[in-house]
Amino acid sequence: MRPTAAQRRTVRLAAACALAAGLAACAADHEDARAVATKGDPARGEVVFALAGGCGCHTPEKGPTGAGGVAIETPFGTFYSTNITPDEETGIGAWSDLEIARAIRAGVLRGGSIEAPVMPYPAYAGMADDDLRDLIAYLRSLPPVRRENRPHEVKLPFPRLAFRAWRLLFAGDVSAPETAPAEGIARGRYLTDHVAICGDCHTPRDAFGAPKEDMYLAGTREGPNGELVPNITSDRETGIGTWDVDDLVSLLQMGMKPDFDNVQGSMAEVVDGIAGAPALGKAPERDLRAIAEYIKTVPAIHHDLRDEEAKEGQEEET
Ligand code: HEC
Repeated sequence: MRPTAAQRRTVRLAAACALAAGLAACAADHEDARAVATKGDPARGEVVFALAGGCGCHTPEKGPTGAGGVAIETPFGTFYSTNITPDEETGIGAWSDLEIARAIRAGVLRGGSIEAPVMPYPAYAGMADDDLRDLIAYLRSLPPVRRENRPHEVKLPFPRLAFRAWRLLFAGDVSAPETAPAEGIARGRYLTDHVAICGDCHTPRDAFGAPKEDMYLAGTREGPNGELVPNITSDRETGIGTWDVDDLVSLLQMGMKPDFDNVQGSMAEVVDGIAGAPALGKAPERDLRAIAEYIKTVPAIHHDLRDEEAKEGQEEET
C-alpha cells in the first residue's frame, strides 16, 4: 500500500527533526507550531509581558522598550541582550511567529543556532501556547527601534557548540500546556516558574550555570551582575517565612517590604519596569496574589546569605 501524502510528510518531518536534535526538540517544535497556529491578542500580550517583569533584560535604562544592548555579566562572560522590537533589519520584524516562538521557548535562533542560556528559555519552555502567542502579538506592536545587536564577549572555547551542549544537558524537557492554568496555586506555580521566572534570579546555580533544583528559590550571593538575591522560601530565619500573602503582594505590586524598605536593583526593575514599560506592578492583582499564595507553599530552605562580617556583628549584638 502506498503511503498517503500526509503520511509521507509526517515521515519526512520526523526524520528531519530526529536529525536536527532528537525527539525532545521535535515535541517542542510541534508545540511551537501549535502555539502560533492562531493569531495572538496584543492587549492580552501586554499583561503577559507585565507578568514577565517587562522582559527587563531587553530594555536599556532609559528605554526604548525592547531595544536590547544591555550588558549582563556572568561567570561565563558578558552577554548583551538582543533587540526584540519589530525593526525589520536589527530586531525581530522579519521573523515569523514560529521563529519568535522557538527563540522564546526552545532557545533556537533564526538560522538554527542555539542561544546562550543567559536567555532563560528553559523556564519559558513551559509558557502556555495562549500566553506565548499573545506575547508575540504584543512584541509586534512595540515601536520598532533600529539598533544592531552587539556580539557577546564569551569566556568559553567554541561558544556556539557550548550553548548547544548545555541545552542538551541541562535544558530539561518541560512541555507547554495549550492554555495557562486559570486560577489558584496552579496558576501561581505556572506564573512563578514559566512567566515571571522568579527562580531565574532567586535559585542558585551550579558550576555549569544550571539552577540547583534542591535549592529552589533559596537565594544566592552570585545573582545576575553579582547581586545578592534573597532567599524567598518560607524559612523564618533566612527566608521570608514571617511574611504573609498580603506582604508579598505589596512587594510585587509596589516594591515595598513589610519593614517599609523598598527593593533595589533588578527586583525594582522587575516590579516597576524600565523606562515606563509594563512590569509586575502593572499586572492584575489576582495574578500577583496567585504568585504570592504559591510562593508560600514552597518548602522552606535554611540558607543564610549574610556575609561573615554581618553574621559576626549580629552575634556580638545578641
Ligand atoms: C531579575 C532578577 C529577579 C527576578 C526575575 C525576581 N527577583 Fe526578587 N529579588 C531580586 C533581587 C536582586 C532582590 C534583592 C533586592 C534588594 O536587595 O533590595 C530581590 C528581592 C525580592 C524579595 C524581597 C526579599 C527580602 O527578604 O527582602 C522578594 C519577596 C522577591 N524578590 C520575590 C520575587 C518573586 C516572587 C519573583 C517572581 C515573581 C521575583 N522576586 C523575581 C531579583 C529578582
